[in-house]
Amino acid sequence: MYGYRLGAIGIVTTFFIIIFSTVLMPMVLFQPKPSGRGNDYDVIPASVADAKRGRQIYVREGCFYCHTQFTRIQDRGYGPLVKEGDYVYETPHQLGTARTGPDLTNEGGRFPGQWQKAHLIQPRAVKPGSIMPSFSYLSEEDMNDLVAYIQSLGNKRTVTAFVTAPDEYLPTTPQGRALAAGKTVDTNSDAAANAGRGIYTQNCAACHGLEGRGNGPNAITLEKKPPNLTRDYYKQYSDEFWFYRVSEGVVGTRMPRWNEILSPEQRWYLVAYLKTLPKDHEETVNSLDQLNVAEPVKLPVMSHEVYEPHHGKE
Ligand code: HEC
Ligand code: HEC
Repeated sequence: MYGYRLGAIGIVTTFFIIIFSTVLMPMVLFQPKPSGRGNDYDVIPASVADAKRGRQIYVREGCFYCHTQFTRIQDRGYGPLVKEGDYVYETPHQLGTARTGPDLTNEGGRFPGQWQKAHLIQPRAVKPGSIMPSFSYLSEEDMNDLVAYIQSLGNKRTVTAFVTAPDEYLPTTPQGRALAAGKTVDTNSDAAANAGRGIYTQNCAACHGLEGRGNGPNAITLEKKPPNLTRDYYKQYSDEFWFYRVSEGVVGTRMPRWNEILSPEQRWYLVAYLKTLPKDHEETVNSLDQLNVAEPVKLPVMSHEVYEPHHGKE
């Protein structure tokens, strides 16, 4: 009898402890300051369209069922990373949970407004095979406002804040300072890069390719392909960020956590080498005369002497 009552009290108490620690406490304690990088819905003049109203349409139509609005460190190609302070004025937030469609955090400006409109009216017209539903039933005004909203996504986030390593890799924390103190390798020296190249060839080239272009023999079997590390994009990586990426691998992909395999010294050598890769980035061809013109092949003069097998006459 009492055992039953005690059990009930225990269950109710547990329930309230969970609600308290996962809902009530964070509500009080988690108060991020505005980062100044949140979306600005006022840059589009009211006479053109109302991005704030567009936001309500985004909520109403349930775009967040398929689209997220948060970029994580492993999200290459989705634009600048987000911080908690970016969402201060976002109520209700549109983080979303499923990425049936791509992340829209920094969608603004990626395509012209006309493209966005055509895509919303008939996704298959601009993206063959798309499974996004058509929103052609929206009124002209709704459509304009929604496109204005899409075009303001990420308008205050600049690429400069794109890549920063987590705190424990930065000299702002004791761990980061210990890491910097243990850095015996000069990551700008050719010697270190050379040492790194050896380690790279042995451990990384199978996936990343000998020149880091992501075309190693293993790449074909990987669902998430290794990136082309010679792209211009990687010029912005700091030493700490390279070190962090190599050390912790990339969650959800076959990129290993090298901190369990290689010593810190070896990883710094790798950083020195990886930093030299972006120098030989791909060339973009803007005009025809930039194309490599094939050398005219010099055919041998077809004289009797050259053509016929020698008979030892000379
Ligand atoms: C059923 C899931 C689904 C819903 C709901 C949905 N989308 Fe999509 N969306 C997708 C998929 C899948 C793609 C990728 C294919 C494509 O581009 O059409 C996509 C692509 C997009 C893109 C292009 C992104 C890019 O950079 O390529 C935009 C913008 C977009 N959706 C906006 C919206 C908006 C706004 C809404 C709400 C009115 C919405 N979506 C509702 C699934 C969805
Ligand atoms: C088993 C295959 C595999 C091996 C071996 C491997 N990688 Fe990777 N690596 C990957 C894949 C796949 C990704 C891409 C993850 C993603 O989609 O973001 C990646 C990502 C990376 C990144 C992050 C790139 C970015 O966009 O920030 C770095 C840096 C990197 N690898 C360096 C290395 C180094 C250095 C080694 C060797 C010590 C190595 N990798 C070995 C598969 C591999």
